[in-house]
Amino acid sequence: MPDNVDDSTVVINGETLGNTQYMAYVIQETVSTDIFRIEPETPYPTDHDELVDLASEEQSDNARPAIKDTIENFDTYENIFVGYPNWWGDMPMILYPFFDEYDFSGKTIIPFNTHGGSGFSGTISTIKELEPNAEVLDGKSISRNDI
Ligand SMILES: Cc1cc2nc3c(=O)[nH]c(=O)nc-3n(C[C@H](O)[C@H](O)[C@H](O)COP(=O)(O)O)c2cc1C
Repeated sequence: MPDNVDDSTVVINGETLGNTQYMAYVIQETVSTDIFRIEPETPYPTDHDELVDLASEEQSDNARPAIKDTIENFDTYENIFVGYPNWWGDMPMILYPFFDEYDFSGKTIIPFNTHGGSGFSGTISTIKELEPNAEVLDGKSISRNDI
């Protein structure tokens, strides 16, 4: 178990954001793109300990949580930044149905993540396996201490 599992938020102009959410907003501002939040139909618990337990349970169950909402006109996008926090050395399990539901063939995926010390872990290779017909760039990983 990593000893770096901790609550992680940043406060920007009085608004509390998750680390990865903040990174996503900065990317959105920089490249003026559309943004979609990958969130489960059943919201994640706001209590940190409950979230840690749920994430671990989902991983051992190889869970595929249902995603709330869909991306409109997904086909029209060519370059897609996909961001997530490192959870137990992997992507949150909801990323798996996300990569299943959308066909990234011929598109470029730019992964980004935030973490407590493990960087991307093996997630870039995982994305390449899940999307063999996409170009997956090296992406950008930022420690929550630097966000
Ligand atoms: C359930 C859970 C598991 C985590 N597992 C890891 C881990 O294995 N390695 C790591 O470096 N950080 C781990 N972390 C720390 C997060 O990756 C880090 O705090 C990240 O910035 C959280 O992003 P967020 O604010 O967007 O949720 C974990 C955090 C949580 C909540």
